[in-house]
Amino acid sequence: MNSSVVQLYRPGAVQLAALPPLALYIHLPWCLKKCPYCDFNSHEWGAAAGQTGAMPEQAYLAALRADLEQSLPLIWGRPVHSVFIGGGTPSLFSPAGIDQLLSDVRALVRLEADAEITLEANPGTFEKDRFRQFRQAGVTRLSIGVQSFNDRFLVALGRVHNAQQARAAVAEAAQCFDTFNIDLMYALPGQSLGDLNMDLDVALGFNPPHLSVYHLTLEPNTYFASHPPVVPDEDTAYDMLDQITARTAAAGWARYEVSAYARAGHRCWHNWNYWQFGDYLGIGAGAHSKLSFAHRVVRQVRWREPKQYMDNTARGQAVSSETEVSAQDLPFEFMLNALRLRDGFDLSLFSERTGLPTQRLQAALLQAQRQGWLERQGNQVRPTERGFDFLSDLQALFLPEPPR
Ligand SMILES: C[S@@+](CC[C@H](N)C(=O)[O-])C[C@H]1O[C@@H](n2cnc3c(N)ncnc32)[C@H](O)[C@@H]1O
Ligand code: SF4
Repeated sequence: MNSSVVQLYRPGAVQLAALPPLALYIHLPWCLKKCPYCDFNSHEWGAAAGQTGAMPEQAYLAALRADLEQSLPLIWGRPVHSVFIGGGTPSLFSPAGIDQLLSDVRALVRLEADAEITLEANPGTFEKDRFRQFRQAGVTRLSIGVQSFNDRFLVALGRVHNAQQARAAVAEAAQCFDTFNIDLMYALPGQSLGDLNMDLDVALGFNPPHLSVYHLTLEPNTYFASHPPVVPDEDTAYDMLDQITARTAAAGWARYEVSAYARAGHRCWHNWNYWQFGDYLGIGAGAHSKLSFAHRVVRQVRWREPKQYMDNTARGQAVSSETEVSAQDLPFEFMLNALRLRDGFDLSLFSERTGLPTQRLQAALLQAQRQGWLERQGNQVRPTERGFDFLSDLQALFLPEPPR
């Protein structure tokens, strides 16, 4: 073990009785075209971005393997319960490349036999048989970035696919996978409640096991931040969310997290683990990790720019920054995640994941109950409807006190 790894195993500010479940996130950073609203670590590949030639798939897969090998001392002996291949547009990689990636993962880590293995796919990269080949490579769950089934909004969002391709991709996913997800966005430029209902008609018509529905946000440093489109006002956006929640509930999907709706047995284990403040090792350009040790919780970030990531990984330096989460910040970090869960959490989970006594939460919990944002039954803590509507205010109650 090198000296920086040894540090992680030393005595520290907290004491964890057991380590949380571990997930693996793998970031594939390229897209055909950058969407104007997107602030993810995604980079255009192709003529439009001035590149000639094929994506450096083999070189990137080699970097991922090296990255995982270098990370092994941080996760020795721990089983991996899920893999999420996200992006970017992972479906740009060939099925043979994904097969190689998953073989490398299986060779290096203890992947549970029933591990959930998700791959993000874009309908613009869909070709007949491709999804089936991803399934054969070991992917168990596809997450399709549909956004809308209406060409007008797909154009407004700068997407590379059209509505017909979106329908074809979802129909094919339903054929090839026992479980899959559709990503939709709402409060789109020029969208009315009627338009949203038409998107929901199509989405629910496919009877997807899982739906993720996101409010379009205008993120800093995106094209939309400097050229903001006209989007529905706040009241209309609230009405849209009410409509989404009511229609999915009536048709049998449970809203188990702020943006996630699932049929029984189809919750996303990987994301569920994030919200339960579980551990994840993130490999690939710009990937984030959260890893627990007996006496500390550590966050890592990898180099964002793909070439820099590949070059630095070849030198054994995939990680660009590493920080220990202070005992003072752990309560807020835990609550930021756990309060997103519709059914809340048991207070014992707080101690299990942070190594801190639940008294650390008491003052803020009481305040949240007084505001009518939280309800408690014994040790079970759950946001109320109102608390869910004012989630960022509720989460902010758990921020550490500023130093006096
Ligand atoms: C990491 S992206 C990757 C999915 C894939 N690259 C795609 O776009 O088809 C996952 C999802 O986040 C959502 N998303 C991305 N940017 C967003 C934004 N600014 N506001 C709301 N949702 C966003 C989209 O629904 C997208 O499908
Ligand atoms: S396809 Fe997805 S990851 Fe790529 S730019 Fe668009 S939203 Fe971002």
